[in-house]
Amino acid sequence: MQNRVPFFFLSSFSLVLLLLLQLSSAQMPGFVSLDCGGKENFTDEIGLNWTPDKLMYGEISNISVANETRKQYTTLRHFPADSRKYCYTLDVVSRTRYLLRVSFLYGNFDANNVYPKFDIFIGATHWSTIVISDANTIETRELIFLALSPTVSVCLSNATTGKPFISTVELRQFNGSVYYTYTEEHFYLSVSARINFGADSDAPIRYPDDPFDRIWESDSVKKANYLVDVAAGTRKISTNKSIDVNSDELPPMKVMQTAVVGTNGSLTYRLNLDGFPGFAWAVTYFAEIEDLAENESRKFRLVLPGHADISKAVVNIEENAPGKYRLYEPGYTNLSLPFVLSFRFGKTSDSSRGPLLNAMEINEYLEKNDGSPDGEVISSVLSHYSSADWAQEGGDPCLPVPWSWVRCSSDQQPKIISILLSGKNLTGNIPLDITKLTGLVELRLDGNMLTGPIPDFTGCMDLKIIHLENNQLTGALPTSLTNLPNLRQLYVQNNMLSGTIPSDLLSSDFDLNFTGNTNLHKGSRKKSHLYVIIGSAVGAAVLLVATIISCLVMHKGKTKYYEQRSLVSHPSQSMDSSKSIGPSEAAHCFSFSEIENSTNNFEKKIGSGGFGVVYYGKLKDGKEIAVKVLTSNSYQGKREFSNEVTLLSRIHHRNLVQLLGYCRDEGNSMLIYEFMHNGTLKEHLYGPLTHGRSINWMKRLEIAEDSAKGIEYLHTGCVPAVIHRDLKSSNILLDIQMRAKVSDFGLSKLAVDGASHVSSIVRGTVGYLDPEYYISQQLTDKSDIYSFGVILLELISGQEAISNDSFGANCRNIVQWAKLHIESGDIQGIIDPVLQNNYDLQSMWKIAEKALMCVQPHGHMRPSISEVLKEIQDAIAIEREAEGNSDEPSNSVHSSINMGSLDLVATENYLSIDESIGQPTAR
Ligand SMILES: *[C@@H]1O[C@H](CO)[C@@H](O)[C@H](O)[C@H]1NC(C)=O
Ligand SMILES: *[C@@H]1O[C@H](CO)[C@@H](O)[C@H](O)[C@H]1NC(C)=O
Ligand SMILES: *[C@@H]1O[C@H](CO)[C@@H](O)[C@H](O)[C@H]1NC(C)=O
Ligand SMILES: *[C@@H]1O[C@H](CO)[C@@H](O)[C@H](O)[C@H]1NC(C)=O
Ligand SMILES: *[C@@H]1O[C@H](CO)[C@@H](O)[C@H](O)[C@H]1NC(C)=O
Ligand SMILES: *[C@@H]1O[C@H](CO)[C@@H](O)[C@H](O)[C@H]1NC(C)=O
Ligand SMILES: *[C@@H]1O[C@H](CO)[C@@H](O)[C@H](O)[C@H]1NC(C)=O
Repeated sequence: MQNRVPFFFLSSFSLVLLLLLQLSSAQMPGFVSLDCGGKENFTDEIGLNWTPDKLMYGEISNISVANETRKQYTTLRHFPADSRKYCYTLDVVSRTRYLLRVSFLYGNFDANNVYPKFDIFIGATHWSTIVISDANTIETRELIFLALSPTVSVCLSNATTGKPFISTVELRQFNGSVYYTYTEEHFYLSVSARINFGADSDAPIRYPDDPFDRIWESDSVKKANYLVDVAAGTRKISTNKSIDVNSDELPPMKVMQTAVVGTNGSLTYRLNLDGFPGFAWAVTYFAEIEDLAENESRKFRLVLPGHADISKAVVNIEENAPGKYRLYEPGYTNLSLPFVLSFRFGKTSDSSRGPLLNAMEINEYLEKNDGSPDGEVISSVLSHYSSADWAQEGGDPCLPVPWSWVRCSSDQQPKIISILLSGKNLTGNIPLDITKLTGLVELRLDGNMLTGPIPDFTGCMDLKIIHLENNQLTGALPTSLTNLPNLRQLYVQNNMLSGTIPSDLLSSDFDLNFTGNTNLHKGSRKKSHLYVIIGSAVGAAVLLVATIISCLVMHKGKTKYYEQRSLVSHPSQSMDSSKSIGPSEAAHCFSFSEIENSTNNFEKKIGSGGFGVVYYGKLKDGKEIAVKVLTSNSYQGKREFSNEVTLLSRIHHRNLVQLLGYCRDEGNSMLIYEFMHNGTLKEHLYGPLTHGRSINWMKRLEIAEDSAKGIEYLHTGCVPAVIHRDLKSSNILLDIQMRAKVSDFGLSKLAVDGASHVSSIVRGTVGYLDPEYYISQQLTDKSDIYSFGVILLELISGQEAISNDSFGANCRNIVQWAKLHIESGDIQGIIDPVLQNNYDLQSMWKIAEKALMCVQPHGHMRPSISEVLKEIQDAIAIEREAEGNSDEPSNSVHSSINMGSLDLVATENYLSIDESIGQPTAR
């Protein structure tokens, strides 16, 4: 959680346009209103369209409550008081914010003498405990969340007394970012209070006045210990004049047209905040709706017990929202609040009027439980059986209680350990995704109508019991079964299997039943796979360093012509298979004459990097190179030179510009890189190369992805980790296919092993430099994240990181500029106009929001590069989907996570001796 943020101004920009478009009367898209237990569709008196819930569980009851006549409250659905969970699954649009509301009107439906008490969950997260204390009172819970997957589930469980039941489920889609928080992927916002002060009746204000159907409760509603202790002199005021609320998610005008004022100088209230103590997102809404005389003023402070610092800030509506009838919405994004909140607004001594308050919202942060890591895999298994009863249970497979046919481990993040689907009429092949359940111990699929082969279960190393009998499986018993060290029971009788049985499966401590497979025989053992033990990587690294040092020493003060090939080098730990393996990895000492010849005596200058000029060259074999000549007798240059040589020759990745070699001559130090045909990203965004052929959003995303992969390799694939220290758009180079590679490790420095930071002289480029690093001089990988965030903002906006005139008055910095726009929901205001409308707004938001997280003031609040990479890949997937590119190769982000363990296994099994011989590799 973030620390408290000072009284800040959720500033709003030119959203007047959006406001004009807002006045449509049709029900908003993205509204779902389920009438639980209902029979038919209907439209209620305020214009919401209700549909019956179609759930295969539970029973329906009709109820009748004297003072509640709304149709949706004449029925409810109730569930048995057992230990299962009962879930509603709702379709949502991923990366979109929603309001979810559930309500419960008991109405004495079961004529029981105890009132129900049960828990509700959103996904795997405990949302709230529902305690009924009055048969005629509606209990309501609301939650604001960012959807991260295509569905969201609401589950009822843990019946403590009585039967769990539910009356309504409502989903309302937001389309801006008023409820954006930095932590929204890890926390929900549970709505605690949304109050319309000075309301002229008890009726709440909601749809259609609020287009998102938030319910603004009247402050005159009487609830126990809620809005009490009202100060003497508190008066209601209201206006008919229209109020400029800036943006479409801010309170509706009708809410802002009423207020309370403290005519004696104070407004005080006490209210109970259900669920608290906790951390709150709290915002107050003010608009001056009285006509103050010229010489009058209204200034006041908020006084909160235990928060002395807060009362320093003075609210002056006229100053903060210049002009009359305009909204000012100061708030705190993270404030710790007690269960009983007493607050006071007090006028300052120089103010002529007492305080005013139109509305407020308090939401509690509710930490998400990500649930079982197997959730995605099992839902893709379920997608094959979408019409089967057992596949309808919904929610997380393990939490709060497992599905009826699943057993889970008792970890914090429970894994599926048993699948019990005997006799369920399953057809088709055994779903391959089952083999991705890495915690699986017991698999029972017997007595179905499964066909096809038995898959490779090597991904499930803990498997103990496999029951596949009484199906129609064909093919051989795979030898991969012998790789499962814990396998004790394998039942495959009465199938159509054939071939010979691996002899390991015939040992006496092993329970195998294979009768009834006419073509399956015992036979001699066939050797399965060869495991190749691979040479020590540490050894390789030592050898490499020795080579380089010797190479340099031999050159010192020596004659011109000397050449030596160093040995093949490897990073000490590999990230993935994208690292290149082969002779090209050699760090090569070029002779000066060779460089002279290939550059035609340094004829063509192609750039000037951080500490030297870069020339184009072409080697005898036709290979194009870039030669960076370092500024000669500068101490710093020499140090950087050897630094870069040591580093670069150790690091190989397809998204890092490759160092081919180096050259030292009297007074000259040179680095020879592969030539990158398409120059720097900077040139493509706002340099000379943009004319007529600017890069589109998809390409920009791919460049971001490539660069992030390069950086990820530096941060996590190298030991010790490498911090780049000078990431910027001119250090991202594009090759002939426009794939991006990160270059220039001149400022890089090995991070101290084991320590989280290294201290050194601050270096970097203005505009990209991490302010925290600048202040503290403590360098961490999060400094690179800051710089990368700036690059993402450049990709979105096509603006330079620092500019004297692009960002308006008092702002030279892309970060400040973008932040103001994004936080006020105005992303359009920063999108590069050359992109026109050729992008998907969701993917744009995704990148914009991640970019803002990257440029958070404190390193610990910034994401890791791997998280950023995942977001970029999600954005690419969204963009591809939007483009309708279904023929794209299936490198979907969602499945790649689960593929990981299989890939690893495959590599171990199938690495042949030829490939590994003579080359130490990184495994
Ligand atoms: C957001 O919703 C409002 C209606 O309240 C609509 O006018 C506006 O166009 C929507 N904005 C976007 C970006 O969809
Ligand atoms: C009820 O409404 C839903 C969604 O609005 C619609 O799909 C369905 O066809 C309607 N059913 C009837 C019987 O009109
Ligand atoms: C509820 O009322 C409807 C008629 O409104 C009736 O058809 C239905 O059978 C009733 N259900 C129960 C469980 O009493
Ligand atoms: C109905 O009346 C009860 C008191 O008998 C009250 O607690 C409840 O809030 C009322 N419900 C509605 C919807 O007005
Ligand atoms: C079920 O509810 C009881 C009482 O409210 C609570 O103590 C218990 O922790 C809950 N169990 C689960 C699994 O949430
Ligand atoms: C399986 O299918 C048969 C015939 O189609 C049916 O009678 C039986 O109830 C089904 N069993 C299950 C568990 O669905
Ligand atoms: C193997 O399966 C068959 C058929 O289900 C059964 O008759 C036999 O008893 C089983 N053998 C063992 C050793 O369990």
